[in-house]
Amino acid sequence: MRIIPADKLEVGMVMGEQIEVAGQIMLARGAVLTQPYIDKLRHMGLSNVTIDDSLSQDIEMESTIDQETHRKGTKVVRQAFQDTQEVLESIREEVQGEAEAALDNSKFTSFIKNSPAFNAVIDYTRELLEKIINSSGGIALNSIKQHDAQTFQHSIDVTAMALTLGRELKLPDRHLEDLAFGTILHDIGKIMIPRKILDSPLSSLSRQEIALLKTHSLLGRRMLLNNSRISQRIRSVTVVTQHHEYHDGSGFPYGLKGSQEPWSVNDTKHLSGISHLAEITNIVNTFDNLTSDSQHRPALSYIDAAYIMTNRFYNRFHPAYLDAFLRILNIFPPGANIQIPHGEYQGYLGTVVKSNSEDRFSPVIRLFFDANREKLAEPINIDLSTNDSIQLKRRSVEELKSMEIHLL
Ligand SMILES: [Fe+2]
Repeated sequence: MRIIPADKLEVGMVMGEQIEVAGQIMLARGAVLTQPYIDKLRHMGLSNVTIDDSLSQDIEMESTIDQETHRKGTKVVRQAFQDTQEVLESIREEVQGEAEAALDNSKFTSFIKNSPAFNAVIDYTRELLEKIINSSGGIALNSIKQHDAQTFQHSIDVTAMALTLGRELKLPDRHLEDLAFGTILHDIGKIMIPRKILDSPLSSLSRQEIALLKTHSLLGRRMLLNNSRISQRIRSVTVVTQHHEYHDGSGFPYGLKGSQEPWSVNDTKHLSGISHLAEITNIVNTFDNLTSDSQHRPALSYIDAAYIMTNRFYNRFHPAYLDAFLRILNIFPPGANIQIPHGEYQGYLGTVVKSNSEDRFSPVIRLFFDANREKLAEPINIDLSTNDSIQLKRRSVEELKSMEIHLL
């Protein structure tokens, strides 16, 4: 299997991954693409699609969590968000009051307390946690972010990455559990934000609209305090409140600063600064945002996102946690598409066949297309650990430095 840019899709190609629209399967894995499907995929705004073909049959894509677990998570989170939104809307129609007043309505508080959809999220989170604790892989998600499912997929991806990083940092089980509940629900407050604001590029929003968008972390906190299974986990609620606080104090809602100290079991930093679990969440949340398609730019590759985080936003993150994150990030996961930037094969396109755990910048690659996008008669396999003339980087440093990046 391999990932290819959506503009390279051709009739007859076979899907390597299922595509859903609003929870319904639009294209199953193994489906053969027709022109109307290709048009639809491009119309959905996907920059990349996973396909299965003879050139990539031997490539096993790596993922922190398997596709089935990912799909299940997307489904349960979607259900919880949708049910919550429906209840809030029905209360708002009944009482015709301020949006936030609905959060204190007894109908809403009892919904949050007893909702089967919320309980399903809690049960799923435990399952996911167990899987990640028992696995040994690094961070590679390789899931194509579908635009309409972005918040739900994002919640699962952020949770899976946060737990993998938490495991690397050797957090005790209790902290990992709190991290899991906090990350899976970190954006729940977004259901109170008008769709129009969520769907617009940040650069086009007015000051007031950005201020409203920024309230989602505190709205999420207010919602979750009504569910005792979550509110008793103060560290989980803190993750929701602080998931946009940055280490250097440039985040929101309070502009808290992080501590240089590593975490300790008796951590009380959440009382005065950013909690260690929120610091972990900020890193994986930013990485997931950069590597997802957004309204104002296509998804960045892992290596470009890592460059931006370490060079342009370095101060926003706890340095030791960011180092640990980069250590376990599989920068060139099998199946990722690549383009050769310089040298003999400049402009050639291909895919990663195998990662190299000794040197993560030098995977084995396979080239399929030349610089004119003509298919090669025979694909070329190159082991970059034995070939110094090729260095992979999709964009130039100048481009990465000047690229417009809007992060909340
Ligand atoms: Fe958020």
